[in-house]
Amino acid sequence: MDGLGRLEYRGYDSAGIALVAPGQPDGPVVVKAAGKLDNLRAALDEAAPAPATAGIGHTRWATHGGPTTVNAHPHRAGHVAVVHNGIIENFRPLREEVEAAGRELVSETDTEVVAHLLDIDFAGRLEAAGEALDEAAVAAVLVESMRAVAARLEGTYTLLAVTPLAPGAIVASRSTSPLVIGLGEGENFLGSDVAAFVAFTRSAAEVEDDQVVLVTAEAVTVWDAEARVVEPATWEVSWDASAAVKGGYATFMDKEIHEQPTAVADTLRGRVDERGELVLDEMRIDPAVLRRVDKIIVIACGTAAYAGHVAKYAIEHWCRIPVEVELAHEFRYRDPVVSEKTLTVAISQSGETMDTIQAVRHAREQGSKVLAIVNTYGSTIAREADAVLYTHAGPEVAVASTKAFLAQITACYLLGLYLAQLRGNKWPDEVADYLTDLGRMPDKIQQVLDTQAETVQALGAELADRPSFLFLGRHVGFPVALEGALKLKELAYVHAEGFAAGELKHGPIALIEEGLPVFVIVPTPRRPVLHDKVIANIQEIRARGARTIVIAEEGDEAVAPFADDVIRVPATPTLMWPLLTVVPLQVFAAALATAKGLDVDQPRNLAKSVTVE
Ligand code: F6R
Repeated sequence: MDGLGRLEYRGYDSAGIALVAPGQPDGPVVVKAAGKLDNLRAALDEAAPAPATAGIGHTRWATHGGPTTVNAHPHRAGHVAVVHNGIIENFRPLREEVEAAGRELVSETDTEVVAHLLDIDFAGRLEAAGEALDEAAVAAVLVESMRAVAARLEGTYTLLAVTPLAPGAIVASRSTSPLVIGLGEGENFLGSDVAAFVAFTRSAAEVEDDQVVLVTAEAVTVWDAEARVVEPATWEVSWDASAAVKGGYATFMDKEIHEQPTAVADTLRGRVDERGELVLDEMRIDPAVLRRVDKIIVIACGTAAYAGHVAKYAIEHWCRIPVEVELAHEFRYRDPVVSEKTLTVAISQSGETMDTIQAVRHAREQGSKVLAIVNTYGSTIAREADAVLYTHAGPEVAVASTKAFLAQITACYLLGLYLAQLRGNKWPDEVADYLTDLGRMPDKIQQVLDTQAETVQALGAELADRPSFLFLGRHVGFPVALEGALKLKELAYVHAEGFAAGELKHGPIALIEEGLPVFVIVPTPRRPVLHDKVIANIQEIRARGARTIVIAEEGDEAVAPFADDVIRVPATPTLMWPLLTVVPLQVFAAALATAKGLDVDQPRNLAKSVTVE
């Protein structure tokens, strides 16, 4: 249950566990409940199952069939119980097949079909063996069955199975969906993420695609697709379990917002040498290839895509390389112009977003080198890319991304400066100046939190009954406006839209009406052309009755006459501006959702990693 709690952020519309122990003639004991994990806790208290020797659990984010108790995992069929992440694309013909074999399915899920396929195969093999097998031999049969069933599945999946006939074993198989092994002393673990078992062991091992795993308390065995035993790569998980608890904050999101100075500092750490020059040891793409790059395509989804959007302004300015930013799911299903001279940059907090994984594969198939900017060590995108630049934000538990966003922008900037340095677009001292600016950001972010959070929280509570919000920005302020609107939509379930400030007069200005709250991100007065244009935009909306909430640099008095509310951030070069201006927008969205009594860490309908397309 502890492990499930730590993974609940991946999906939380229902949950369940299956337990096995010697002598369970009716198959595994399964307890499930619709809704959050607390419902499962209550169901377990009531069911009070006997102690078990092995167990599997699951928190679900519905794909096939609604979030009901019946559809919750594990699914039991005969002697086996199964949990599954991903989607089985050919489940319809398989369902017909198991029904034709006389099996009665009770749920609408693709997973239950797999449970039956596995049980049919398993029962058949046990019968064929004829004699009474010992526990290890039964476990070996389940491994065979898992391999045989997995070979018939199309789609993406991680599958785990248990049976009381081999009550000390868990058998797993993986194709594209995440799965990691935790290596303990006299106990071993499997999880979609190391967070599931990091309270018990920091020693982890990788499972590759199409591998099958047998885990018992004493041993872990991994087979490749050709049924040869392989030695999995292992690593030590560097952050401890405390990183996944709230540490005095009311919510994980609040904690993670306050960790942003550290997330940026940690992402910079070790990447600037004592002379102020940029060193990226992990950049394992041949410098000759990087010098030839004539286009960068950033692929990502949601907040990560907005980080890419911010990076476009910086990288084009520093490197004079065209940068396209594309949503991974759009990139994947069209015919993008990609060549060996294209550098594809995949940005992902989880490293497991299926849309982004597929886009990475699409880019590589066309000869592009892929650089991943990823937060989760050993994740699928990190493994499949040609090189990885890790963001060192630490585990992000709240579903809405905050500290990962700032770390992604920071890592993108390191990439941009590295390319500029390598290609000679910028002299070392210019790169050093930008690195100095970046190095100052953690303190400035802290300053925003220290001086503005309270005012912004009060504003969130005050505006909690408003049905609609707009966010405006120009230049790097534009993606910040988009991110501010996304945070509010996902946390507070209100209509919120972000626009490029200059676009307003081309249509959206029709939305402005008396009292509509509009956030405006005002560029520094040291860029008078940009600054004055945005001031003009504020006047336009205020004249039409909007309530203007302005984020402006300290000392910028030009905004005062047109602002109903002013949020102040320290003076900063324009390109660094997003790292500061997004912070009040995050705080605002969390405060407004809290005032509405909503679950800030786990908003409805969402999952932390979207591991389906
Ligand atoms: C929004 C949010 C999502 C993610 C997106 C990509 O707050 O968290 O929009 O940014 O689903 O996820 P990753 O970065 O894990 O690929």
